[in-house]
Amino acid sequence: EVEVKTRYIGHEVKCFDEVDSTNNVAKRMAEDGAPEGTVVIARTQSRGRGRRGKPWISPQGGIWMSIILRPEVHPSTAPLLTLVTGVAVARTLKEECGLDVGIKWPNDILIGDKKVCGILTEAHARFNTLEYVVVGVGIDTNVDISHFPEDLREGATSIKNELQRDIKSSELISRFLKNFEDVYDSFKEGKMDEILREWRRMSKTIGRRVEIRKQLGEVVRGEAIGINSEGALILELDDGTLRKVISGECIHL
Ligand code: BTN
Repeated sequence: EVEVKTRYIGHEVKCFDEVDSTNNVAKRMAEDGAPEGTVVIARTQSRGRGRRGKPWISPQGGIWMSIILRPEVHPSTAPLLTLVTGVAVARTLKEECGLDVGIKWPNDILIGDKKVCGILTEAHARFNTLEYVVVGVGIDTNVDISHFPEDLREGATSIKNELQRDIKSSELISRFLKNFEDVYDSFKEGKMDEILREWRRMSKTIGRRVEIRKQLGEVVRGEAIGINSEGALILELDDGTLRKVISGECIHL
């Protein structure tokens, strides 16, 4: 039921009632040789995965999907695909819902200051060559956040909660795939600086005081002043020194 307006993204769409995780299904399909642009969508996920091994609640009404990509780029640039995807989701939600959409580094799409979408990028490299990347996108569209467990409800919202009505998921998916293809094409053409400019414009992190929780419990606090061409966040610490952070959980203070 998803109308395809793209050249190659979503020309193969596999829809399921329930899967463990669309990222897992997409990975298996990629291993079996599925072409670039193959999209996996499920109505519900029994074991949806978030970043850092956190579970991702995926009830009926949300958009749970994964895209298989095979870009011919160095594996070290795969994390940029999270920013590429973030720009495409933010553009789509802005155009379709007219909401105060923004991006929290590195990969959360916010409405106001609440999270409405998460992105999970998983790359598979072999002999230092990128074989495929699975980009997973979870958007809380027609779901009611008040039914979520309390700890996950905090800081989260859905399009339904914001607009007080349901939206047409198939329409949103089809617009997203078009936007995704446009931004992803720019990425492959080496125009990452253009994408980063759009990312910065939509960023709700830059200019704010943030706390980054890194692996092993390290915490860095400072003002987010920019992102560099690798997609790393640049912080100005309290003593005025600059610090580059490649990954971690970002909290807006
Ligand atoms: C995060 O913000 O922690 C990332 C959440 C990613 C959720 C999506 S839903 C579709 C795809 N399948 C998964 O199991 N996870 C991603």
